[in-house]
Amino acid sequence: MSKLTDSESARLHPETLALSHGFDPWLSEGAIKPPVFLTSTFAFKQAADGKQFFAWAHGEGAPRPKHEMGLIYSRINNPNLEIFEDRVALWEGMKDAYSFASGMAAIATTLLATHNPGDEMIVCAPVYGGTDSLIHVFLARFGIKAHFVPAGIDAPALAEKLITPHTRSIFIESPANPNNRLTDIARMKALALHHAPAPAGSSAGRILVIVDNTMAGPVFAQPARVGADVVLYSATKFIGGHSDVVGGVALANDDALLGAIAHHRAMLGGMPNPYTAWLLTRSLETLKIRAEEQQRNAVRVAAFLAQHPKVRKVCFLGLLTPADPEFATYQKQHTGPGSLISFYIRGGEKEAFAFLDHLKVVRLAVSLGSTESLASHPSSMTHSGLTPADKLLGEVTDDLVRLSIGIEHVDDLIWDLDQALAAI
Ligand SMILES: Cc1ncc(COP(=O)(O)O)c(C=O)c1O
Repeated sequence: MSKLTDSESARLHPETLALSHGFDPWLSEGAIKPPVFLTSTFAFKQAADGKQFFAWAHGEGAPRPKHEMGLIYSRINNPNLEIFEDRVALWEGMKDAYSFASGMAAIATTLLATHNPGDEMIVCAPVYGGTDSLIHVFLARFGIKAHFVPAGIDAPALAEKLITPHTRSIFIESPANPNNRLTDIARMKALALHHAPAPAGSSAGRILVIVDNTMAGPVFAQPARVGADVVLYSATKFIGGHSDVVGGVALANDDALLGAIAHHRAMLGGMPNPYTAWLLTRSLETLKIRAEEQQRNAVRVAAFLAQHPKVRKVCFLGLLTPADPEFATYQKQHTGPGSLISFYIRGGEKEAFAFLDHLKVVRLAVSLGSTESLASHPSSMTHSGLTPADKLLGEVTDDLVRLSIGIEHVDDLIWDLDQALAAI
């Protein structure tokens, strides 16, 4: 048992609690780190316990904190998943989380849990290519229609024109992948509540504001603090942080929403395995120091790129100034710019590819948020499946390069970028 009282725990920071929260060593021979619970099923002390746990898992009776529910079967619950979920919820300041085998599993399960045939979504473009295909191809097959608006300062006004009695969600990537556009989440939430007040007894509105916070968080932005009903992650990125694990998370505050996500995860089977959850828990311990070092490097790299004659434009939150329309949103939603930089090179695909092919320290690979720096070409890689219209809305053009900055020595990164730009 932790020696901390609930009120003492409540005043501690996530980076402190990331080292101990949600795990009692005395349930595991005094082990300081949680063991990996590689078991598919759990013994019930008596048959009546099994009956009760299943009833709770089916949502019967009052909503119940999941660690009180009783362990059943690792598709439904497992200690490693729960420890990770408890700790990631602390970072977000949210009531609870469910972990998934990938970011796409978190997004797909959440959207299936919250939408019915005939529902409509408003999506701020660009979104990650997989999410774009999920919405255009898969959800469309189930009768869920999406309207896309460009992310950014005009998104709320454009979204308002598209709200109908069928609107069920507003989906935002914050910042948007890959162009780092910011949409005002609080304004979207106000809009949602204005057009569809939350039903009595619900903490989530009828129009849900769903935010994929993969690119920023959870260290530098917590969207629920400004109104998001559901926060989603590819935990493959900053949370995992080492390019060695694929995972996802969905978080919410509303019990009914959490129950729906848990139920759909159990039915669709998109939970992570215990070892994946263990790796993600391990990575949470260093999340803050990794993210802060990556951000420090990114600020220097962005400044270097911004003055380079072969670079037309740099999209980096740290370069926003009060003259930029999204600056106020940045100040409201972020405590730092993070470490994702996109830039438009002078030329097109040929010049972008030449730059990428000449990199020696920065690795040519998709993904982001890891300890090593990565460079990619969204238009032909992560976002190649976007419809031409969505590419246009999302400013995903052939001259765009995305960088995810890691923890290498920043002088080495700048040297590498400089020599690759010189070679084109
Ligand atoms: C913003 C964003 N959301 C979701 C995903 C999907 O995550 P995963 O690859 O873990 O399924 C990605 C992947 O790159 C992403 O960049």
